[in-house]
Amino acid sequence: MQVHDTIAALRAARKSARRVALVPTMGNLHEGHIALMKQAREHADTVIATIFVNRLQFRPGEDFDKYPRTFQADCEKLKAAGVDHLFAPNEAEMYPEPQGYHVHPPAAQADILDGEFRPGHFVGVATVVMKLFQIAQPDVALFGKKDYQQLMILRNMARELNLPIEVIAGETIRAADGLALSSRNGYLSAKERAEAPKLFEALTKVIEKIRGGNHDFPQLERDSIEFLRSRNWLPDYVAVRKKSDLQLPTAHESGLVVLAAARLGSTRLIDNLEV
Ligand code: PAJ
Repeated sequence: MQVHDTIAALRAARKSARRVALVPTMGNLHEGHIALMKQAREHADTVIATIFVNRLQFRPGEDFDKYPRTFQADCEKLKAAGVDHLFAPNEAEMYPEPQGYHVHPPAAQADILDGEFRPGHFVGVATVVMKLFQIAQPDVALFGKKDYQQLMILRNMARELNLPIEVIAGETIRAADGLALSSRNGYLSAKERAEAPKLFEALTKVIEKIRGGNHDFPQLERDSIEFLRSRNWLPDYVAVRKKSDLQLPTAHESGLVVLAAARLGSTRLIDNLEV
């Protein structure tokens, strides 16, 4: 695996590649990331991973400074997964001047759910991913369903802005007890880690009830929030939405996804399940 820390070096490497798959990450890699790397291989002869903790998508007071940086271990995992190139720029390389131009996803997609609780987050995500797309010029790019709203926004960005890039979704990879793998799971104490699968359990209950014919979505959301609160979680939302655009469904709509974000101690976890 070749490691590049400049845009020029990555572009030079990209020139000699034929069909390129890009997998952007913020590092601290786990099996969820690695599954995307392996899936990428099915779509291209050259796989480029990126590691960049993107300050632009963190709010002041969020975990940018303490976000886990484990570069050497990440390199070993990427090598073992057969990744061809790693692009790991520093901040000066990605943002040599204050970023004045931004990609603003439509409010209907970016100011709801996670965007409501993390204002500006998806502007930061869309902007850095657009930059990574321009730098690596991939044919396909892979993103996990774990971050369902992010996936939808980036897929719509590629389509509406006519980027010649196919956005491909990877399934959510979970621990044996159901907890979705996440770099932020490392923040959990042993006691919190034991409690954390309850978020998946809460989502599972909701989708089972929907499958069983209960279409009172607001009530299902309230019950789920109450369940989490009773276990000392601080839920931001539990929401039954349309898969296609994450807008509110009518009572008899199919193609639903249930999304949740909740704080356990000081750690904010997100997860979702398709019905
Ligand atoms: P990060 O959280 O590092 O995630 C990188 C990619 O891995 C994303 O596409 C995310 O959805 C996917 N992923 C994370 N956990 C997963 C899991 N358990 N199963 C499957 N896929 C999983 O998401 C970001 O970084 C950033 O916002 C980024 C897109 C890189 C822009 O900065």
